[in-house]
Amino acid sequence: MGFDQYHEPPEELPAATRTFARLCASLTEEAEAIGWYEQRIALEKDPEALAIMRDAQGEEFKHFAMDLEFLLRRTPPWREVARGILFQAGDIVEHGEEAEAEAFEEGGAGAGGSYDDGSLGIGGLRGETR
Ligand SMILES: [Fe+2]
Repeated sequence: MGFDQYHEPPEELPAATRTFARLCASLTEEAEAIGWYEQRIALEKDPEALAIMRDAQGEEFKHFAMDLEFLLRRTPPWREVARGILFQAGDIVEHGEEAEAEAFEEGGAGAGGSYDDGSLGIGGLRGETR
């Protein structure tokens, strides 16, 4: 992977931003791995190999979820949007539009620029304790 997760000079970025970027890169890699295993599983005929691939894909599900949870905990507006979309029945796009509007309306986690203090909005979500 190297240093290509950075789009700005790494030495100028705060440590929290570098960590955030690393986890974003990791999230992408886990999603790619899930997709690759999905393709392999779709084609594999050997039941033993298939079981191993399914087990490995399960590990990638876990890694993806842990990366996502880390990022959401540190980004209140993203967390609020995700809360309105994830694990909801119904129209995904509709939930997305509603969640975005709620997160960025007056008093929402995204209102007022949570990043001004360089903290990535840590602790900025209403009523959220960590
Ligand atoms: Fe992984």
